[in-house]
Amino acid sequence: MSKRLEGKVAAITGGNQGIGLGIAERFIQEGAAVSICYRSDGEGSERVAESLRAGGGKAIAIQADISKLADGQRFLSETVSQLGELDILVNNAGVEKRASFWDVTEADYDFVLNVNLKGLFFVTQAMVRYLRQAKRPGKIINISSVHEELPFPHFTSYCASKGALKMITRNLSIELAPFNITINNIAPGAIETPINKNLLNDPVKLKSLLDNIPLRRLGKPEDVASIAAFLASEESSYVTGTTFVVDGGLTWNYEEQ
Ligand SMILES: NC(=O)c1ccc[n+]([C@@H]2O[C@H](COP(=O)([O-])OP(=O)(O)OC[C@H]3O[C@@H](n4cnc5c(N)ncnc54)[C@H](O)[C@@H]3O)[C@@H](O)[C@H]2O)c1
Repeated sequence: MSKRLEGKVAAITGGNQGIGLGIAERFIQEGAAVSICYRSDGEGSERVAESLRAGGGKAIAIQADISKLADGQRFLSETVSQLGELDILVNNAGVEKRASFWDVTEADYDFVLNVNLKGLFFVTQAMVRYLRQAKRPGKIINISSVHEELPFPHFTSYCASKGALKMITRNLSIELAPFNITINNIAPGAIETPINKNLLNDPVKLKSLLDNIPLRRLGKPEDVASIAAFLASEESSYVTGTTFVVDGGLTWNYEEQ
């Protein structure tokens, strides 16, 4: 397989586990240098970066809590100073908090929206400012969710963040096109990662979910990473402002008995 990202540098928010790590591994295989950020667990994240470098690729890990504007900006500026440039941003970091709507606290709301929406918004702004100043084209890939369309009761703040992401991408595809910067969303369904640990440990809930997925399995980070590699490469140069659903058929599953 030819390497589609040779010579490119990618920054991935929250690439130390789950979907972000799957994307980091795939981008390294495709020839990119990769920068991941983590909020805590510096030791574990350094080990992850080391394993990413094992095949001879370039990878660094930077501590940054993207819910803080200055951290998000520093994540990108340190990436540029250590890896020389930046071509691709993957907005992957995300959190969720289960609560019935009437019980949601301000802290719950801020926890989710400050990462999934505010953090993403301003990391993206820092990327665009860098690309414009450096006069470079660029690729922005957001890890959204099927919940940018599909209801998820008891997760209203999460759905609000992912629904907003759909409109951020549509808007920016127009505003950024003159600079040859493309932006797209990937909307995963149910993927086997730590965010789903409660579900993965509950056989009854898991079975009922699998019964709703036409392909009858959960997705893997690699299933999301292959679309991310396409969107980061020149093969997607005419694709912007859209969402790629990776859900085993979950979203549109309907059948009359
Ligand atoms: N797993 C799924 O089923 C699924 C489905 C749809 C969408 N998603 C989305 O995929 C993305 C990745 O989720 P995942 O499943 O890999 O979950 P995960 O919990 O394994 O990973 C989340 C990542 O976000 C990072 N992160 C969280 N808060 C951060 C902060 N303040 N600053 C920096 N990094 C932070 C974590 O360090 C971690 O690397 C999220 O945006 C999530 O909403 C996941």
